[in-house]
Amino acid sequence: MSRIFSGVQPTGDLHLGNYLGAIRNWVRLQDDYECLFCVVDMHAITVWQEPDNLLANTREVTAALLASGIDPKKNIVFNQSRVSGHAQLAWIFNCVARMGWLNRMTQFKEKAGKQKENASIGLFAYPCLMAADILLYQATHVPVGEDQKQHLELTRDIAHKFNSDFKKVIFPIVKPLIFGTGTRVMSLRDGTKKMSKSDPSDLSRINMADDASIITKKFRKAKSDTDVLPDSQDGFKGRPEAANLMNIYAALSDTDIEEVCQQYGAEQFSAFKKELADLAVAKLSPIQDEMRRLMADTEYVDSVLSQGADRAQALAEPVLEEVCATIGFLRSRA
Ligand code: TYM
Repeated sequence: MSRIFSGVQPTGDLHLGNYLGAIRNWVRLQDDYECLFCVVDMHAITVWQEPDNLLANTREVTAALLASGIDPKKNIVFNQSRVSGHAQLAWIFNCVARMGWLNRMTQFKEKAGKQKENASIGLFAYPCLMAADILLYQATHVPVGEDQKQHLELTRDIAHKFNSDFKKVIFPIVKPLIFGTGTRVMSLRDGTKKMSKSDPSDLSRINMADDASIITKKFRKAKSDTDVLPDSQDGFKGRPEAANLMNIYAALSDTDIEEVCQQYGAEQFSAFKKELADLAVAKLSPIQDEMRRLMADTEYVDSVLSQGADRAQALAEPVLEEVCATIGFLRSRA
């Protein structure tokens, strides 16, 4: 059976991009694949995290996954730092990947910005840890938003190089699963920039935890232009905000973008934004209610993560054993 691995960072609020680009697709895939869904707390600390916040966010992200419909009995849901194989394999991959490959990673350049000399080594080596996450379980498919595409290409390069260096096929060449209309949800303040947790403006994103009045306000204040909405996708040229809002509507209502254009073409932004806000509230509020219920039951959330980690550990161990033997690490007990 094909195996899925995917992850999400517990760094601040989850937003609509995380939900539409990744989590909602995970829910849809869980019946057809064996899945591991991981709260990647080790990735989170590549930039500074207050310890109390990291702990709280790990629980909150887990609650969001469960509230969105991920079944923790069927799938393995766990936090990364609990399974030490992630760190072990990441080190091995640090020695497989080349500086040149990592130097090309656009996300490092974006995140480090002008502070490159001051960025953590972890932030630079981040994609090697991501490759380790996936390949520790020999996962074959990885559902993500479009922004992770380059990291998955690196994962494929690492798997290929390891297999060919050691002349043994241990790691599969993973397939990215990037599908649906929500693969790249853009900022509400600038339709050319990705919706992101790290944007300093909270108005730029819809957080999973925002209540109805905040969601309505954020869509009302979303950047738009002076024209009416286009009646086909051809009209999106030079109008990134119209494209983004109509895409979000299509993703939330599960309709084709052309249909949304036909339905709302020639309408004013203001009326459309109101409909979009109502739709978002209707879709998100049941998830938010369930999230709140789960957040009040930390014992349950913690038990999901610890049982998930035990199951993940059992899958990881034989792979790590084979990798270590292949490299020439003396490991087994005398
Ligand atoms: P993270 O935590 O930034 O995002 C989690 C998921 O949400 C998707 N996403 C988006 N999709 C559409 N539009 C957006 N604006 C948007 N913003 C985020 C991301 O593509 C991602 O799928 N490196 C990963 C976490 C990770 C991982 C892994 C993923 C660590 N190890 C192994 C897959 C496999 C990250 O930072 O995701």
